[in-house]
Amino acid sequence: MNSPTVLVTGATGTVGSALVTALRSRGATVRAMTRVPDRPIPGAETVVADLREPASIARALDGVDAAFLNSPSTEDAAALQIRFADLAHEAGVGRLVLLSQYAARPDSPVRFLRWHAEVESHVQHLGLDRTVLRPNLYMQGMLGFAGTIAQGWFGAPIGDVPVSLVDTRDIADTAAVVLTSTGHIGRTYTLTGPRAVTHPRIAEVLSEATGRVISFHDASAEQFTAALAGQLPPWQLSGLVEDYAHYARGEAAEVHPSVEDITGRPARDITDFARDYAAAFTSAASPTEGRSR
Ligand SMILES: NC(=O)c1ccc[n+]([C@@H]2O[C@H](COP(=O)([O-])OP(=O)(O)OC[C@H]3O[C@@H](n4cnc5c(N)ncnc54)[C@H](OP(=O)(O)O)[C@@H]3O)[C@@H](O)[C@H]2O)c1
Repeated sequence: MNSPTVLVTGATGTVGSALVTALRSRGATVRAMTRVPDRPIPGAETVVADLREPASIARALDGVDAAFLNSPSTEDAAALQIRFADLAHEAGVGRLVLLSQYAARPDSPVRFLRWHAEVESHVQHLGLDRTVLRPNLYMQGMLGFAGTIAQGWFGAPIGDVPVSLVDTRDIADTAAVVLTSTGHIGRTYTLTGPRAVTHPRIAEVLSEATGRVISFHDASAEQFTAALAGQLPPWQLSGLVEDYAHYARGEAAEVHPSVEDITGRPARDITDFARDYAAAFTSAASPTEGRSR
């Protein structure tokens, strides 16, 4: 594809902000979407639009060659993403790259995985050229624990079961390649880090990177829920507990080679993440104890 114009939804978010940079470095023209007026996004044409306002999405999609679809985790995320995909189809967008999640499937006990599967299925049947990215648990989700990590610990209901967490910068780099090169239409890629790690091991790695003693406390689902009550809406908290139960069953431990296959370099390891983000774990406490989604 020759210098395509790419619409990036969630361009101020975890993956989207890194994707704007990655696309620019590959020579793409980026249209970066935010709901916030007067918030120019460096290196991109900024477009103000809201997934809840279809007319604004139709304007944002006008004239783009490709779109990256990532929505925040909301109760109506599937409906919002499905409407976006319909509008992209109507606008004649040539390529849609959808951010889903590792192990998305319609019969999953995890609501987020069912919602992602619903969107994947809809997009598949629309007939537009699409690629699905299914990232595992984000390493950057650890930043949600920065508040207690600053006090020397973090807790979650997962025990010592390994998970092949992925760095969001690798999701962005992979998405940038998929959006700007050929050979990815109709494919679904599961994105993981280079190995599966346990939370006690993450605590060791963070300790080494920060020079402080950080320990992991296994928590029951009830303790986890009680610690986060009031910080997340009940549906989101229940979904997060379902996510952790899925991790704790060992269902998110496979390592997939897609990041390296697509970007041509190894996926970042948890030690890379810990080194690059060490300062975030030693500075002021964050307002939440748990992971945001
Ligand atoms: N966290 C994980 O470990 C993980 C793992 C796998 C998959 N996922 C998936 O990643 C997605 C969420 O990622 P995230 O939590 O990192 O979120 P995020 O990408 O950081 O999402 C926040 C972004 O959404 C935008 N946004 C919020 N409301 C919007 C609306 N109504 N219309 C348009 N844009 C809106 C915000 O932009 P403005 O405020 O600038 O408008 C912001 O850029 C979910 O689908 C989740 O299932 C997460």
